[in-house]
Amino acid sequence: MVPFADTHVHLLPGRDDGPLTVDEALAMCRMLVSEGVRHAAALAHQNASYPDNDAAALRTAVAELQPLLQARQIPLTLYPAGEIMLGPEFLDQWKAGRYLTLGDSGQTLLVEMPHGQFLDLLPLADYFRPLGIRLIVAHAERYPELLYDPDLAQRWIAAGCLFQVTTQALAEPWDATTEHALKDWAVGGFIHLLGSDGHGIDRRRPLFREGYQRLVQWVGRRAAERIASFWGIAALQGLPLHIPPPRPPRRTWFHRLFG
Ligand SMILES: [Fe+2]
Repeated sequence: MVPFADTHVHLLPGRDDGPLTVDEALAMCRMLVSEGVRHAAALAHQNASYPDNDAAALRTAVAELQPLLQARQIPLTLYPAGEIMLGPEFLDQWKAGRYLTLGDSGQTLLVEMPHGQFLDLLPLADYFRPLGIRLIVAHAERYPELLYDPDLAQRWIAAGCLFQVTTQALAEPWDATTEHALKDWAVGGFIHLLGSDGHGIDRRRPLFREGYQRLVQWVGRRAAERIASFWGIAALQGLPLHIPPPRPPRRTWFHRLFG
């Protein structure tokens, strides 16, 4: 099995609504390792609810956690990151250096929509593209405006956006409609990265193996490995990301009616 890369897990004790204690964070890390994860974005929310979570604070928190894993022989490499909420203050905060790129690599920014809203990412993607920075849409499957609109999804990807999907959504889709849409995304090349979005030992279990197996069923082992492992590691380490453009599956009249 390839080493999986979790590009979204809340692992920093007391920094947000993730683990409260170091022991809980370590238990989460053990759980990730048991699921085959060897690389993880150890992140916390960066939004108005957590004003202390600037880039420096999150870097320090990861630097403190990593040696504890080594001391306990937990084979998980952590990469600092922020889950950044979009909003009117976004660019000012970015220019002030408060946001942390994924893996502190300067290559990608993991962003989420403000609660209950869906914003057009194109202007922001256009702003960041000349800087060599791509936006990763966190838990992209949560936004029906995106999941059910392949034209919009293609425009965002063409502008440089990457889509991160939650392993639990693949392993245990909410319903058949979501499952069909996620399968279309997988087959069409719309899924680029996986994240558990774990927040604790009980909340949102990693389900990496199950999510990966679902991808293997849908797109085959080699494509599933790229999504669950290779592209994730490259994103975390700031290595070049060579991701082909999506090819949405052709929907025949039969599939549209009965698919
Ligand atoms: Fe999250």
